[in-house]
Amino acid sequence: MIGAAINRIDGPLKVSGRAVYSYERQEAGRPLYGFIRGAAIGKGRIKHADVSAAETAPGVHLVWTHLNVPAQGAYVPKPTMFDRPRPQLTSDRITYYGEPVVFVVAETFEAARHEAEPGAFALRRHAGNAEKPETLSIGMPAEVRMGDIDAATAQGPVTVDESYDTPYHFSQAMEPPAALADWRDGHLTVYVATQMVAQTRTAIADTLMLDEKQVTVDAACVGGGFGSKLYLHAEGVFAALAARSLGRPVKVAMTRRQVFTLTGHRPEMIHRVRLAAASDGKLTALGHDVNMQGGTEAGPWIEQAATVARSLYAAPSRLTRHYITTLDVKASEAVRGPGEMPGLIAFETAMDELAFALRIDPVELRLKNDTEIDPELSIPLSGRRLADCLREGARQFGWDERPATPASRREGRYLIGYGMAAGIRMHFQGATEVSVRAEADGRVVVRSDMTDIGTGTYTIVAQVAAEALGVPLESIAVLLARSDFPKSMGAGGSWGAANVSVALDRACQALKEKIRDRAGRPSNNLLADVRVHFPDGVEATGRTIGQAQDPNYTNFSQNTYGASFAEVGVDTHTGEVRLRRMLGVFAAGRIVNPKTARSQLIGGMIWGVSSALHEAAAVDPHRGCWVNGDLAEYVVPVHADIPDIEAILLDDHDEHANHLGMKGIGELGVCGTGAAVGNAVFNATGIRVRSFPITMAKLLPGLPALI
Ligand code: MOS
Repeated sequence: MIGAAINRIDGPLKVSGRAVYSYERQEAGRPLYGFIRGAAIGKGRIKHADVSAAETAPGVHLVWTHLNVPAQGAYVPKPTMFDRPRPQLTSDRITYYGEPVVFVVAETFEAARHEAEPGAFALRRHAGNAEKPETLSIGMPAEVRMGDIDAATAQGPVTVDESYDTPYHFSQAMEPPAALADWRDGHLTVYVATQMVAQTRTAIADTLMLDEKQVTVDAACVGGGFGSKLYLHAEGVFAALAARSLGRPVKVAMTRRQVFTLTGHRPEMIHRVRLAAASDGKLTALGHDVNMQGGTEAGPWIEQAATVARSLYAAPSRLTRHYITTLDVKASEAVRGPGEMPGLIAFETAMDELAFALRIDPVELRLKNDTEIDPELSIPLSGRRLADCLREGARQFGWDERPATPASRREGRYLIGYGMAAGIRMHFQGATEVSVRAEADGRVVVRSDMTDIGTGTYTIVAQVAAEALGVPLESIAVLLARSDFPKSMGAGGSWGAANVSVALDRACQALKEKIRDRAGRPSNNLLADVRVHFPDGVEATGRTIGQAQDPNYTNFSQNTYGASFAEVGVDTHTGEVRLRRMLGVFAAGRIVNPKTARSQLIGGMIWGVSSALHEAAAVDPHRGCWVNGDLAEYVVPVHADIPDIEAILLDDHDEHANHLGMKGIGELGVCGTGAAVGNAVFNATGIRVRSFPITMAKLLPGLPALI
């Protein structure tokens, strides 16, 4: 069962429209509709809020501003970023464009009036005000220094010292963030689109100042997350507050435009990458500085963008630093591949620049600097298969056909180029509990608050249980994402599949022991033995411990690896870049389901193409609003942009990750793929664009000379 390309067990429900998402849940009866009105300025103060017309309009049940919203728990960093309170309408201050200023349960209202103030909205303009935090949001130090990078780069002989810009990105899940809250008999049930159920429950309880026991969170169906549903947002808070105040079910969904203002974004970043190498290609120094946007909210998200440089290649002198520039722009949040995605697009472009300067093949340069030992932690890199990914990718892609000189291959009006990049993604383990129960009637029920955000969790959980218990897949019912089920770390950070599978496998082993103890022998027909010996059913739980307590995560540096290869054609008349084909080769431990895994990786790779060629959100430097905050102008690839793309998973088993040999894949596909496309553009044209995405306008000035 583990390793089988099983179709999603929830697939028929989803494609037939019978899967019920939070906004559509029926359990609460007929709900009222809430709507959030956001600020039309980026910084300022609410002088006056005239909502009298809205309050008296027919059908309006409730109108809240900062003047009359119920008391809420303070926005303090407790206990983690995932479960902290998220109070709304807390003051007359407006700290970012689109910040909620009015909440209405019904349809009509008068807009609140704002007074605008000048704000800091442009990263480049205010980059000089950057501050250096001590630690990153995920806990590592913001700065790590080894050796002397200045001396090494002065010595050369071959160096790269370049600056790269990566823009704001958004997670735009198909299902916008939505919540339906039901308050009855002193208990609040919130059906909400979230990646992390227990943490969202804590956040709701602390915001509403309720006891956690008074709150149930249910996220049985979630239509995509990509980081945008890790935290509780305004829609969940307002639905819950209003349901309690009115004693009626209330539902609130973000409009598509609100997804651009009320969820978090990946911060815009300015990178500086420094590399120095001997003439044989051995790195003597590497450095990566990142200066990123931070919001004015307490406890900014500090994305670990320079950490990729810490484990990817050997080099004696090393320096990685992160800086935060506070702008009057909403606080950023995790967006798929946080850290690695923007970090690798800069770092692996710099590696391509170094290969060009050295006149060494880019694959060869990476192989020369491969390492089995984490260069900064001085512990083994677990499951280090980077070289295998590079070699297998080069072979299957036909890398030896690459034009040796940039701008040397033409097909009609197109210049053709090949590019590649390495990928790395940290692998995390979080405390997770799963229960499994076998009933006398032959059913097996698995319960965990783990979520399925469209990735295939329901299916792989059934596979792991079927394999561990030796029972048919059809006998397994998978119940996920309710806060009254055993607690997990949810789906995020690429940790969900391994966490839940390992805990579930342990639960299944414990269940088999219970059955063996009662039956007096190991079972060869588990369901029959349960029927005979356990008329009331039998249950067991299994756990995964947090990585801080697990020696496998202190004795080994845990990562997954990939190598991506791209071929592009650049239209010499227009500067348009067309992806022609792409291949990713990945090593991510044992794969439970190659079909759902491949979908994840291809999705990530498409996002990588997007980061190279399409995607960027822009903030108006005067008003602080999102200039292209809708799907008409925030450009993402369509089918015609993605002609031929393949992901290959190496047959792998990482014995140091966990006893199943599994790691994560959700973010790996986006790691390095953007740089591979950008490097292909350089190989095609000889033009190095260091500000992403690589648009026609950036390429055109360099192209006419080539015609
Ligand atoms: Mo991921 S950005 O941790 O959902």
